[in-house]
This record gives sequence, structure tokens and C-alpha cells, in this order.
Amino acid sequence: MIYLDNAATSWPKPPEVLKAMTEVLERAGGNPGRSGHRLSIAAARVIYDTREEIARFFGISDPVRVIFTGNATHAINLALKGILRPSAHAVTSSIEHNAVMRPLRSLEKQGIHLSIVPCTRDGRLDVRDVEMAIKSTTRLVVVTHASNVVGTISPVAEIASVAHRAGALLLVDAAQTAGVITIDMRAMGIDLLAFTGHKELQGPPGIGGLVISDNVDVSQIEPLIRGGTGSRSESEEQPDDLPDKFESGTANLAGIAGLGAGLKWIKDRGIGKIRSHMKKLSQTLIDGLLAIPEVKIYGTLDSERSVAIVSFTVVGKRVSEIGLRLDEEYGVLSRVGLHCAPAAHKTIGSLPEGTVRLAPGVFTTMDDIREAIKAISRVVRS
Ligand SMILES: Cc1ncc(COP(=O)(O)O)c(C=O)c1O
Repeated sequence: MIYLDNAATSWPKPPEVLKAMTEVLERAGGNPGRSGHRLSIAAARVIYDTREEIARFFGISDPVRVIFTGNATHAINLALKGILRPSAHAVTSSIEHNAVMRPLRSLEKQGIHLSIVPCTRDGRLDVRDVEMAIKSTTRLVVVTHASNVVGTISPVAEIASVAHRAGALLLVDAAQTAGVITIDMRAMGIDLLAFTGHKELQGPPGIGGLVISDNVDVSQIEPLIRGGTGSRSESEEQPDDLPDKFESGTANLAGIAGLGAGLKWIKDRGIGKIRSHMKKLSQTLIDGLLAIPEVKIYGTLDSERSVAIVSFTVVGKRVSEIGLRLDEEYGVLSRVGLHCAPAAHKTIGSLPEGTVRLAPGVFTTMDDIREAIKAISRVVRS
């Protein structure tokens, strides 16, 4: 089996991740921050240590500004709904995932104003277009760090500069980049970063987070949910302290432990090495597909300017048929369709059917890529 669906979720997970998840439940399985006994304290320690690791990993200094959520979608909803009030203006791009588009469309119905900056057909976002879309009422600019359809990387540091010049905040959806591209929020000027644990951060499903940079005034952000935090239990009001203001209910302890082990695994290998491995894989894949005349590839075709996500269609064949045959006849696992990002497919010109998406992961080998190219050329020609 050749698993090329890592953009949906990475697989397999490093054994250290599975071990950390089992161990934490065996050895530290109390409810963190609730009781005062040793198992509860041990659980809280694991969570705090992971918070610290994440803060360091993304270049912020205060770990309590790492807010754990269920996934990137939850983190994006927290940021958008927490910040945008009726009549505020927001700017986004035309390649966003529905994790961004759907909450924004819902907020539009409640009175926010939205500008969607068109990207080029290969998924590039021009910072001058973002600058032109920003107005005096713009409160938030929200962009994906890399497209989940074509992998194209957005110039987030430049976008941060134009957003800040206008007094707006920048929210970056790092679902496809966290773990494969170095993200230093301070250096890049990112105010809010939404990440998910189960993709290239090597963690399990069900854990993600919103990282709020040191300069953001959190009193301006409303919680998405309210409830028990284990702190200030005498009060029926949500506490203002971080992270409790934004984290109600029992934490996903096993998920957080797994995420922590995933981060450590990435650090031990080195994110630079991971990125260069992924670039080689994706460029080989792109070049191999370019040699098949029936195949149309989308995106920049340049692994320097994208993460390892390659989308293609085949003249005269349905994407569903290609995906099914790759799986059943050759054991190549891809994802076909619209990838929860209809706006991106509209931008690249692949509506209504979408594309076949191939996403190598850190465990993918060059042999896997060569086998996948052979399989695709056979499916295309028969
Ligand atoms: C660009 C992008 N944003 C957001 C998400 C949502 O991530 P999650 O399903 O973990 O919430 C995804 C998932 O595919 C994605 O690719």
C-alpha cells in the first residue's frame, strides 16, 4: 500500500506518538486541573509541557497563549467568531478551505463584511491585492499558509506587514504547513495561528490549537464555548485567565500527549530535513506526472513554492474512477473531489469534479513515488 493522503491526515504515526498516548493514560490518567491528587497533577504537567513545546515551536514566549482545541476548524472558528463583530470587515483569499469559508459566510449573515482576494490559477496570492482589499474597517485578514488543493504557499510575512499597517490582525491557517515549514510567529508577524495535530505534526486526530501571539489583546477575543475550567469554580462567569478563558471542558489528554511526542519527533529529525525530503518527493511526483501527456497538473509545479500536495486530472476520465482504480488495482491511496475547498477549485478551474490529490508524507519513500507514477500512467492509458 502506498499512502498518499497525508494532506487529509498523516499515516502512519511515529511509534513514539502511540506510545506516549498509551503511557499517559496508564500513568497520568487523572483529570488535569480538576483534582489535587497525583494523577491529576501528572496529567496537568503533560499538558503544560506540551503547551510550552508548542509555544517554542511556533516562536511565542507565553505558553498560556497556546489554546488547545479539537482541530484546526475549531481553532479557526474560535478566532473568527471571537474577533469579528457585526460591521467589521475581514479579508480572505479565494483558495481557502471551508474551515475558513463556512464560518466567514455565516458571520457575513450576521453583519460582517467580507472581501475575497482572488488568487492566480496556480493558487498564488499577491500581497498587493491583499493590500488593496484592506480598508480602515478591516479587523482581520485570514489566509491559509498553504493550499490544501495545490500546495501553493502564501506570502504570510508580507501579508502580516500590510495587515498591521492598517491596524488589522492576521490569522493564518497552518493546517497544511505546521510540521513541514518552520513557522516563527514573531519573525513572520503572525498574530493568530490555527494548527491541527493530525497532519504533519504527526499527532492523533482530535487535537489542534490556536496560538495567540504575545502582542494580541486577548480581552478583545470572545470565547467560543464556556464552561468548567477547574479554576475559579466559585464563579458562574467564564474566567478571563489564559488558557482557561478559551478552554472549557476536560482536555484531550491522550491527544495532547501524542501531539507532544509528534513535536519531539519532528525536532529530533529536524524540520529542515523533513522539508527537503518532502520537496524531493513532490518534485519527482510533479516531473513524473508532467511526462504523462494525458495528465493535467494544477499548481505552481515548483516544490520550492508549495508543500507536498499535487493535484491532477486526466482528459476523458473521471477523478472518482482514477482514485478507485489506483486504490483497488495498485494500492495507491489518494483523495479525489473537492477536498472541502470549493473556492480553491473554482480558482484553479477544476469545478465541478475537482481533482485527484496526491500528498506524500514524511514516511513516503522515493520508491513509493516512482511506483505511484507508474500506477497512474497505467490507469491513464487503460
Ligand atoms: C487548509 C486546511 N485548513 C483547515 C483544515 C481543517 O483541519 P481539521 O479537519 O483538522 O479541522 C484542513 C484539513 O484538511 C486544511 O487542509
